[in-house]
Amino acid sequence: MYYPDELVEEIRAKNDIVDIVSGYVKLTKKGSSYFGLCPFHNEKSPSFSVSPMKQMYYCFGCGAGGNVFSFLMNYENFTFQEALKVLADRAGVNLPEAEYSAQARKEADKKTVLLEINKEAAKYFYYQLRGRQGEMGYRYLTGRGLSEETLQKFGLGFANKTSNDLVSYLKSKGYQDEQLIQAGLAAADERFGLHDKFWNRVIFPIMDINHRAIGFGGRVMGEGTPKYLNSPETLVFDKSRNLYGLNFARTARKNNMILCEGYMDVIALHQAGFGQAVASLGTAFTLGQANLLKRYTDQVLLAYDSDGAGTKAALRAIGILRETGLAGKVIDLSPYKDPDEFIKNLGAEAFQKRIDQAENGFLFEIRILQQGFDLSDPEEKTRFHREIAGKLCQFSEEMERGNYLEAVAEQYQISRESLKKLVEAYAVREGLAKPINRPKSGIQSANRAKEGIRRAQRLLITWLTEEPYLYARVKKYLSAKDFTDELYQKVAEKLFEGFEAGNSNPGSIASFFPDEDEQRQVAMLFNTKIELPDSLPEREKAFHDILLTVKRNSLDYYSGRQGSDITAINQVLEAKKALEELNKTHISLQE
Ligand code: UTP
Ligand code: MN
Repeated sequence: MYYPDELVEEIRAKNDIVDIVSGYVKLTKKGSSYFGLCPFHNEKSPSFSVSPMKQMYYCFGCGAGGNVFSFLMNYENFTFQEALKVLADRAGVNLPEAEYSAQARKEADKKTVLLEINKEAAKYFYYQLRGRQGEMGYRYLTGRGLSEETLQKFGLGFANKTSNDLVSYLKSKGYQDEQLIQAGLAAADERFGLHDKFWNRVIFPIMDINHRAIGFGGRVMGEGTPKYLNSPETLVFDKSRNLYGLNFARTARKNNMILCEGYMDVIALHQAGFGQAVASLGTAFTLGQANLLKRYTDQVLLAYDSDGAGTKAALRAIGILRETGLAGKVIDLSPYKDPDEFIKNLGAEAFQKRIDQAENGFLFEIRILQQGFDLSDPEEKTRFHREIAGKLCQFSEEMERGNYLEAVAEQYQISRESLKKLVEAYAVREGLAKPINRPKSGIQSANRAKEGIRRAQRLLITWLTEEPYLYARVKKYLSAKDFTDELYQKVAEKLFEGFEAGNSNPGSIASFFPDEDEQRQVAMLFNTKIELPDSLPEREKAFHDILLTVKRNSLDYYSGRQGSDITAINQVLEAKKALEELNKTHISLQE
């Protein structure tokens, strides 16, 4: 489906970038921009900026950048069409609907079809739970303390005892056998043909952060194995990049997230008022999931089962959280097995107390470690202290390491001084010294000169965007052609057209560059950091220098192409003249 530029621009203009991004990233105002932790790479201090004036975002750390469309495309993994649709809906703009014929559906993007199938299946399961055949399931779930409201919120359902009714239902809706298999809802079998994957189970639809069903978990009622059956990974179900309950938890507005092991734990916690609970999907917690959480919080509380397996899983999760720069804490659930049972027995208030008392992840690790040593034996005690020293070396920041050292020394009554010495010895032995800087080669310095010119071009574009009144003062000397990089030139053309028309807008210019890499470059162009000197004369000199650099490069560039090209000749003549004039002209930066 092709949409006209005007419609795309209308939708972009009606969705303020600060509004959109702050739905995902905590932003703080700083000068004329907003800053937050970049959702596209790991970082501990904010280098991700959002400019209301430019209607763009840009990360000074990793270079991610673009406008509202590219933000959603990157963050939500949307196609351009999907991002456009979401933003159109949000702004109340009607998009002309595509019509689906049987033929068109066949050709439609596979992902869309799988999502459609999942949606139909979720509706079907939901409906069955409320039918006669689903009575058992309904009784089972309410018997576990779930309210009707909770059943609805999580869209819980039921898969009937008959082993192919979902398949027949979906086929009656026009889907093919192959598609049902790809959706993970059916399996083919030599004896029975195509049959349902789930039967005689209560169903937990797994939703992505946009509340779209991407997979299912089904629990047997009572005892039986496997206790939970889950959808396999499919084109739309990536288990390592989704979390159960995150579609609700992301807007819970608590200052932490609670990570549990089970679907039922998440549901019980939400029902008890802890809307920030999520769980991994029948698989171990992954780095991808930690990064996902990091978009919403900087503190994760682990509410894993209190048994041996749960403790082991918690230790693993703490390591993963640390790797992404998240603070992990551990909630003590004893004497109960999991959050669901805890809440059922002791209630929400008691759980909140356990949240408040959650143990620091590192201290939890040390406490578990200690259980493996008999501290009355001097040799074991020494080994324990050595292991602590090794673990302390994970903290590369001296202050953080020092704080942990102090806490551990106090808790286990170890002399601070000797623990410190042990840590230093350990660091030396493991070669944790700083990497050596190597001198740069000749090729690198040539590249540096090139990069310097590109940087001057970027600086000029950023500067003009931030102080648009300057355009009138430089247009005599400057044209879009002076930007010798192809992409820079296109952007400058659009920008200068905008200046002429009095409506320049970087966010709208970015829409002309649908490619992700181009988007990043455009964003960089509008966000090159300018470290401005304080005094006006110095700033004017800096501006003048940048302008000269750009013009000189332009002259060089077109001189090299004169033989072949009449525009190059004109460009050279023009640039020579402009340079001469520029050399004796003062450009004032006073508004
Ligand atoms: P648990 O066995 O702790 O589940 O497994 P639970 O949530 O406490 O289950 P209830 O309370 O008995 O209903 C934790 C999670 O591990 C996955 C599921 O995602 C479950 O929620 N799991 C467990 C499976 O995928 N398959 C299984 O057979 C068991
Ligand atoms: Mn349980």
